[in-house]
Amino acid sequence: MSARTPLRLGIFISGRGSNLAAIAGACRERRIAAEVAVVLSERPEAGGLRIARELGIDARAIPWPGAAQRAEFERAAETALVAAGAQLIVLAGFMRILSGPFVAAHEGAILNIHPSLLPKYPGLHTHRRVLEAGDREHGATVHFVTDQLDGGPRILQAKVPIREADTETSLYARVQSAEHIIYPRVIGWRADGRLLWRAGSAWLDGRPLMTPLVETFDA
Ligand code: GRF
Repeated sequence: MSARTPLRLGIFISGRGSNLAAIAGACRERRIAAEVAVVLSERPEAGGLRIARELGIDARAIPWPGAAQRAEFERAAETALVAAGAQLIVLAGFMRILSGPFVAAHEGAILNIHPSLLPKYPGLHTHRRVLEAGDREHGATVHFVTDQLDGGPRILQAKVPIREADTETSLYARVQSAEHIIYPRVIGWRADGRLLWRAGSAWLDGRPLMTPLVETFDA
């Protein structure tokens, strides 16, 4: 890890928080030059909030009871992000869609992880859909967030071969294990100044990523 000041992360979650735990672990063990400044969730019961609090991280539930409340959520989230000095927003299993103005206000500073080899299978139930389609491979993608759902510039993909005996559950578990490796890695690139957003594209080490980097996980 470099000696630079840790990049402050604002992590948005809706659920279990296993990616949050992986990222927080990488920060704590100084494998990446980042720190989790605040964790926000629209679901007070999200397991990830408990994980964050156990780690001593500021973790807050901000209610989002219906579609009309998105603006209120975003206002409260913005206040929390500013108070925490967050420099990068990390969506880690955040199941809501942020508004165009919120995304535009944070252009190039929001990452997401999606459980498919984008552009294949944007949206929900990706594991079920790949199995139904009879695909031979699946995976996860870390990408910059734009106003296109699951459509922003792709940075790194984890490719996971599909096995004969795979079920939705087994595939979910293998893809998630790979997610826990690639998401901290990409955040580390960003923290080290290697990953940039320039004019709507992802750049790594001074070059535009025309296609994402791909790593295969076959264990
Ligand atoms: C992950 O599989 C991620 O790809 C998707 O939501 C899931 C979140 O899981 N966006 P967790 O809450 O990090 O365990």
